[in-house]
Amino acid sequence: MNIDTTKDAAKLEVNGKTLVMDTIRGVENEQAINSLNLRKETGYINLDPGYGNTGSCVSGVTFLDGEKGVIHHRGYELKELAANCNFLEVAYLLMNGELPNTAEYKQWNSQISENSYLGPSLQILLNHYPSRSHPMSVLASVVLSLNGFYGDLGEERFYQLDMDVVRLIAKTPLIAAHDYRRKRGMQYIPSDPTLGYAENFLHSMFGVNLSPERRKIMADSLEKLLIIHADHEQNCSTSTVRMISSSDANVYAAIGGGIGALWGPLHGGANEAVIKMLEYIQMHDGDLASVIKRAKDKNDPFKLMGFGHRVYKTYDPRATIAKSVVDDLLEKLGVDEPLVDTAMELEKIALEDDYFVSRNLYPNVDFYTGIAYKAMGIPKEMFTVMFTMGRMAGWLAHLLEFREDEHRRICRPRQIYAGSPMRDFVPLDKR
Ligand code: ACO
Repeated sequence: MNIDTTKDAAKLEVNGKTLVMDTIRGVENEQAINSLNLRKETGYINLDPGYGNTGSCVSGVTFLDGEKGVIHHRGYELKELAANCNFLEVAYLLMNGELPNTAEYKQWNSQISENSYLGPSLQILLNHYPSRSHPMSVLASVVLSLNGFYGDLGEERFYQLDMDVVRLIAKTPLIAAHDYRRKRGMQYIPSDPTLGYAENFLHSMFGVNLSPERRKIMADSLEKLLIIHADHEQNCSTSTVRMISSSDANVYAAIGGGIGALWGPLHGGANEAVIKMLEYIQMHDGDLASVIKRAKDKNDPFKLMGFGHRVYKTYDPRATIAKSVVDDLLEKLGVDEPLVDTAMELEKIALEDDYFVSRNLYPNVDFYTGIAYKAMGIPKEMFTVMFTMGRMAGWLAHLLEFREDEHRRICRPRQIYAGSPMRDFVPLDKR
């Protein structure tokens, strides 16, 4: 990995002990103190709930500058990738470090095509989930179950990793599309190898109910949305994937866990929550003021969904791309979506309000993406599934990187214990 180490550049004095540590500088000048020996040398641990100051790894996949609003993958700025690539090219870049050349792309694309099917047993399994199951719950459990269909039973742990990667990228859209259809009493639609990745998903989901012309328009937008979802360095779900992988669990177990982490409304689940919030505002005659008031009220757990980010202290560059995708999509589809106006008004009010300004709270990636998915006819409860389809590439890229990491250890944080001190046991009849 491309990092500079300065020997003995940091000194920590605690309780009469001095620990001298190396500092580390990444290629974009991010800095860290190597505290690997902190506990061994001083007896102290670093307490950092939420890991806001904790670097869990050295990674070469994605760089973020949250102050300047910069994101690049393997050196390529996200907006350039979104403007010029399709999702499979970006997925290849994340996992392999370089954009594919024509031959590499052709091979990658045909691997995905060849694995874009759900076999009869997988369809039967999927059909048996309760029809009221949330699509994220179905997706997470079916992905975990893939180990039963394709897993290596733990004997040769890393032997078939490349095929696991291909299967997960190829089958996730089909699992999502078939879950949508079977809940509505509709048959499975096999994928069409002549269509691109996003278009195939729309075809497998809507079949003949979507004209090829509209499907093409939507697919162009969807490719961009999948790209902006594809990776975001050590976020909650990616860290979960790394954490699970650190126990040498299989790929499907790690990715299933990542899907669970993404589902939460503070993370990828925010796109569903944003639309619910905007619809709530609409139902209440555009009452933006009460939503803003609630978001600022410290006694109210409500937050302005799609706003704020642990890393970004400025406008999330993904939100800028998402907004332009929404505008373009609505124009090309000829759809008038009043939620866009509600979202823009809400954004304007928040960005002029001292509460949000002083805390650097700006729209994040989830603020506008749901509007695009709504315009495509994708139901709200599937919005986070759409996010998952994109983020699958990033999770797998990090998993592959982690498996090759010479410093890889089981992820096992420590704690400060605050419960009862050791005490005498009292038998049941004496309690
Ligand atoms: N609405 C109102 N207040 C907020 C919001 C919000 N959306 N986000 C942060 N704040 C406030 C906090 O209450 C806190 O106020 P305080 O300093 O008075 O205590 C301050 O801003 C700092 O926020 P933190 O909670 O420290 O921010 P953190 O980095 O822990 O959380 C998070 C980031 C979870 C994204 C948060 O901003 C949030 O809950 N946003 C809404 C949910 C959301 O949109 N999530 C998607 C994020 S993007 C992604 O994961 C794909």
